[in-house]
Amino acid sequence: MIRIYPDLEALSYAAADLFADEARQAIQSRGRFTVALAGGSTPRRAYELLARDPFREQVPWQSTHIFWGDERCVPADDPRNNALMARQALLDHVPVPPEQIHPMVCNSSPLGAAVAYETLLRSIFTAGCPRFDLVLLGLGENGHTASLFPGTSVLDEQQRWVGEVYLAEEGQHRLTLTTAAINQAALVVFLVSGSDKAPILRKVLKGAQDPRSIPAQLIKPVDGGLLWLVDRDAARQLRQRKE
Ligand code: 6PG
Repeated sequence: MIRIYPDLEALSYAAADLFADEARQAIQSRGRFTVALAGGSTPRRAYELLARDPFREQVPWQSTHIFWGDERCVPADDPRNNALMARQALLDHVPVPPEQIHPMVCNSSPLGAAVAYETLLRSIFTAGCPRFDLVLLGLGENGHTASLFPGTSVLDEQQRWVGEVYLAEEGQHRLTLTTAAINQAALVVFLVSGSDKAPILRKVLKGAQDPRSIPAQLIKPVDGGLLWLVDRDAARQLRQRKE
């Protein structure tokens, strides 16, 4: 399902509204809301809107558990840190109990950090699969999502829920939920904005299946929902006829 919005502001408002709805429904039926946040820049505005009324008052923050889909292995105060962005835009402004905020901390060995985060997840998702109520994802221009990058071995991981990846082009490691984990979610929502993303969005949604080159194509929830919230600039090539 693809929903197209006039611009990033409208897209972000819709994402905040969806987040609030999913939170209320999850807490009403299961007593808690587990959400994995996306990093990068696109979701920032949605996070900022969630920190303000009307959404701030709509979300039962006390029963909300915050995770991340991926993290760069940089210090917590590094501007590239995904958890830092979410704290500044949202978490420092809403009453989620600190013990329910679970950043990926990757200052030890990347493998050790991935194992530690998976251990945490397995202590929370005790039914044997990480069924997040909501996973938010972005889309990179090269087809990556979370830190599932083209041609990396973590794409093949079917057992682990959290993997580590070295990105030579960035000279740094990252941690990421694996596709095995993400695809167990009750709902996965991509947020995609801007004309720069138009070519890759067309490839992901309309192009040939090539998931090793376009990892976002690996995101196929086993029995959950998949929703694309995109703005008009990002969607501009979706209606074009084939070349
Ligand atoms: C990250 C993200 C990554 C991001 C895409 C899109 O840590 O970089 O998790 O997957 O969602 O790169 O980033 P933008 O929203 O900044 O375009």
